[in-house]
Amino acid sequence: MLFDILTLFPAMFDGAFTDSIIKRAVDKGLVSVDIHNIRDYSGDVKHQTVDDYPYGGDAGMLMKPEPLAAAIRAAKERLDGRNPTVVYLTPAGRLLNQDTVKELSAKESLILLCGRYKGIDQRVIDSYVDMEVSIGDYVLSGGEIPAMAVVDAVTRLIPGVLSNIDSAETDSFHNGLLSHPHYTRPEVFEGIKVPEVLISGHHANIRGWQKQKSLELTKARRPDLLNGAGID
Ligand code: ADE
Repeated sequence: MLFDILTLFPAMFDGAFTDSIIKRAVDKGLVSVDIHNIRDYSGDVKHQTVDDYPYGGDAGMLMKPEPLAAAIRAAKERLDGRNPTVVYLTPAGRLLNQDTVKELSAKESLILLCGRYKGIDQRVIDSYVDMEVSIGDYVLSGGEIPAMAVVDAVTRLIPGVLSNIDSAETDSFHNGLLSHPHYTRPEVFEGIKVPEVLISGHHANIRGWQKQKSLELTKARRPDLLNGAGID
């Protein structure tokens, strides 16, 4: 998977992918993350202007269409032959859930467009964007943190990225449910004991307990997921 990220704040990504699972995936050549500054495509050599007032007199500024279009065209050239999908991060987008993550992880390459200010000119969305994605019903200052979330969640699903040890199988949402509670040593912590079944060595009972807890937790916290998983 090739990620090409277009942003006005490339420094925000410093360190974001230099540790842990993503770093390993990059080192193994399973993913690459390339960051580009939209300002480099402003065409306005002196001021490098990338924003302007909105028509209609709303408060705040918008990102101008020309630098965005030029930045996307350049990213498409970089990813020529790799079938890039252009994803714009916006609170108005489709909510990023594990199904969307799966869909994105099946793509060959993603161009992640990070907005700032009050957003971007609609014509860029209409002409250049394939999918609009939101990471939740709240407003962040820009699309950079959402782009990091997409890179992280998508990378975890690329074959070969996760070892058995950090397998996605025990992640929440992998089967449409929240994950069951987890315990490690010591067996007694501040007077609270690990559930007996987990130290019983009885694998069928352990699986049964995990399934039961996963259902209980999902029912209590996210009943909407049970309907989605075909369970009521
Ligand atoms: N940009 C600002 N807020 C956002 C959100 N919640 N999701 C995606 N992009 C955003």
